[in-house]
Formats: sequence, C-alpha cells, structure tokens
Amino acid sequence: MINPFFIINFKCYKEATGKKALELAKKIDNIAEKSKADIAVVVQPTDIYLISENCKNLKIFAQHIDSVSEGSFTGSVTASAVRSSGASGILLNHSEKRLKLEDIELSIKLAKEKKLITIVCASDTIIAKAVSDLNPDYVAVEPEELISGKISISKAKPGLIAETLRKLQNSRNVKLLVGAGIHSPEDVQVALKLGASGILISSAIVKSRDPENLLTKMLISTL
Ligand code: G3P
Repeated sequence: MINPFFIINFKCYKEATGKKALELAKKIDNIAEKSKADIAVVVQPTDIYLISENCKNLKIFAQHIDSVSEGSFTGSVTASAVRSSGASGILLNHSEKRLKLEDIELSIKLAKEKKLITIVCASDTIIAKAVSDLNPDYVAVEPEELISGKISISKAKPGLIAETLRKLQNSRNVKLLVGAGIHSPEDVQVALKLGASGILISSAIVKSRDPENLLTKMLISTL
C-alpha cells in the first residue's frame, strides 16, 4: 500500500475544540513526525492558526468554506482566510454540512485559486460520481447512517467502496477516501485493500482515552 492519507476530523467535539484541539493535534503531530505518515487534522476555523503554528508535521484542513471570495461577506469563512491562517486543505459537503452542487463547484474553484487541497464528501456512489466531475483532489464516501457509530463502512458496506472506486475510474486524478464508523486497524486495512487512498475518521480518535495508541496501531496496520 502506498502512503495512505489519514484524515482526522475534529468536528465540533468539546474534546477537540480550542485548547483541547491543540493538545490533541500536538499528540497527532508527534506521531506524524515519528512515523512520517501523511496525516491531516480537520479543525474548526477558530483553531486553524493556533494548530498550524504549533504542529509542523501535519496538514491542517478547514471543515468548510463558504462559496464567496474576499470582501463584504460578514460571517463567512473564505478560502483566503483559511489559507492565510495556515490551512493547506478544505473539506466540503460533509453530511453534517451539506451543500448545493453549484456551491461545491464554486468553493472548489476558490480553494484551487488559493492552492488548497480539496476533499468533497458524498454519502453514496451516485453523489460521489457527481462531485468527482467537479474535479476535487479527493472524494470521501461516507454512508450517513454509519457516521459516529460502531459499525464501519469497511464492515457494513465493503461493496460500496469497490463500487464507488469503479465509478471514479474515469474521473481524471480524483482519489477515493472512505469514512464512517472506522474504529479499528482492521477497518483501515479493509478500506485500503479495497483500493481507498486513505481514511476519514473522527469519533474513534477524538473520543478515545488513548488516541495516540489507537492511531499508532492503525498506522502500523498499513505497513
Ligand atoms: O468526517 C469523518 C466522519 O464523518 C466519520 O465520523 O465518527 O464515524 O469516524 P466517525
């Protein structure tokens, strides 16, 4: 397997907000430094700058941007703002932050202008194919009903991973990530063996008593 991409979504969990976000990010940063693994943390906009200043071995992603550029757009999160705060990528259309296709398209364009890596989430193969046509760097397939649960996409829907991969085959350079319910090294292994380029994970790491141990075991499982 070639250097899988591990993306850890901090969401708005209290265990991963503000100072706690920094504490968790530093633990993950240490692991990234030692292992040289490709790891991103997906954080709230208010935490991007602090984490990017203190964690130099991670990619920092914003959880969302709005489809507006710089200017008079009070309350919006722009590609420019997340980039200049230290983010190197963005997540779009998470099932907890769904967007219209036209907004996804414009946000991808704005993100690319700022040289941000783009991940667009999709709950099934049809949506994955539709968003892959907008040419993001990654599409992340995550069945909504499995998110935050204990049964992973790898266990419950391995066929969805394979099917989505087939559908994306003609989509230029778009790579597939998978997520939802991933909580064990076996879940990671199955997803990667089926052809995913990486995984998107949240609650298992953020709510773990020992996130370093779990993440390390997951990384070792990919060697
Ligand atoms: O963005 C990742 C996410 O939606 C999966 O969440 O808690 O099921 O790993 P979780």
